[in-house]
Amino acid sequence: MCVAHAPQDAITERLFQSAIGTLELFGVYLGRTLGLYRTLHEHGSLNPAGLADHARIAPRYAREWLEQQAVAGFLVVDREATDDAARTYRLPDDYVGVLADEEHPAHIAPFAHMMVGVARALPRVVEAYRTGAGVPYAEFGADFRYGQGGINRPAFVSDLTGVWLPGVPDLHETLLREPGRRIADVGCGAGWSTIALARAYPDAEVVGFDLDEASIRDAVKNAAAAGVRVRFVCADGAALTADGPFHLITLLETLHDMAHPDEALAAMRAALAPGGSLFIADERVAEEFSAPGDDIERMMYGWSISHCLPVGMDGVRARPVGTVIRPATVRRLAQATGFGSCEVLDIPNQLFRFYRLRAA
Ligand SMILES: C[S@@+](CC[C@H](N)C(=O)[O-])C[C@H]1O[C@@H](n2cnc3c(N)ncnc32)[C@H](O)[C@@H]1O
Repeated sequence: MCVAHAPQDAITERLFQSAIGTLELFGVYLGRTLGLYRTLHEHGSLNPAGLADHARIAPRYAREWLEQQAVAGFLVVDREATDDAARTYRLPDDYVGVLADEEHPAHIAPFAHMMVGVARALPRVVEAYRTGAGVPYAEFGADFRYGQGGINRPAFVSDLTGVWLPGVPDLHETLLREPGRRIADVGCGAGWSTIALARAYPDAEVVGFDLDEASIRDAVKNAAAAGVRVRFVCADGAALTADGPFHLITLLETLHDMAHPDEALAAMRAALAPGGSLFIADERVAEEFSAPGDDIERMMYGWSISHCLPVGMDGVRARPVGTVIRPATVRRLAQATGFGSCEVLDIPNQLFRFYRLRAA
């Protein structure tokens, strides 16, 4: 059967818009990395010389970036002038959360850093497609790590312990009321989730685990800056059994990235204390493949082909899921690794689907 497809013009237009979008993300990356949004937020309306002076960048670059940002609609022109040097620009108050406030719920700008990280590793990804090998997470560099930590940080600092875990009342109440509970946050990345768990459950022992050494270093720094006492360990989730038992294990946007998700889940099941739970947050993709897909499917397949699958392929006899992790896959993995129950939790979220796995 011949399925109707979009006309050629529509695809040409889409790719043209994608090129603009990619370039605008690079502009956002420059603005954040050089502290330009923060400077505009602190000083209000600035002309190119003012921005250059406060942010310590070269004036010619300041002028071009300000003009580009205004043309893109991310900044507004505050004082019109025919003289490019005299025109002033401002960051609208309601864009501060999107572009500069790292814990604001609308803070989506870290995607810019993730894209730059992916671009950095793309030659390695091309090679991996040819050889069938993987690409180590470290190859995606500091930009990717920073972006990954940043994109989930707003949700972790507020929703993880304010909405998601309270959505499992017996679990949440036990962690609040019974001192000495042990929590493992596996694939903790920059540690924002681990820090949030330690803050919300001060009588629990919380440990963050990650395979990536640089992520663990970031997490240690972030916890110290936040003044939170929490332990981080550079280790594979598949070796968790030795560190158990844990009353709660969290696996936040990590299962789909693992080279050996089955081994990791089996180790986590063995590391659970009697009555303990594994709480998984992973992508809220459709139940089944269909094409063309919606924005979530397009986004998740985009990450999968360029980052998550290559990262997951980095291991001997790797069997990664990829970003498009459907509920049936989680159920199959849970059953194969000896979990007695795999519940899809009724916690509303646009991007994440939540699962509770228990041994019995
Ligand atoms: C997509 S990132 C998510 C990081 C963090 N949970 C967040 O949401 O920002 C996946 C993380 O899992 C880690 N990871 C992948 N496989 C792992 C494994 N087998 N054991 C421990 N960590 C692992 C990676 O190093 C990476 O930091």
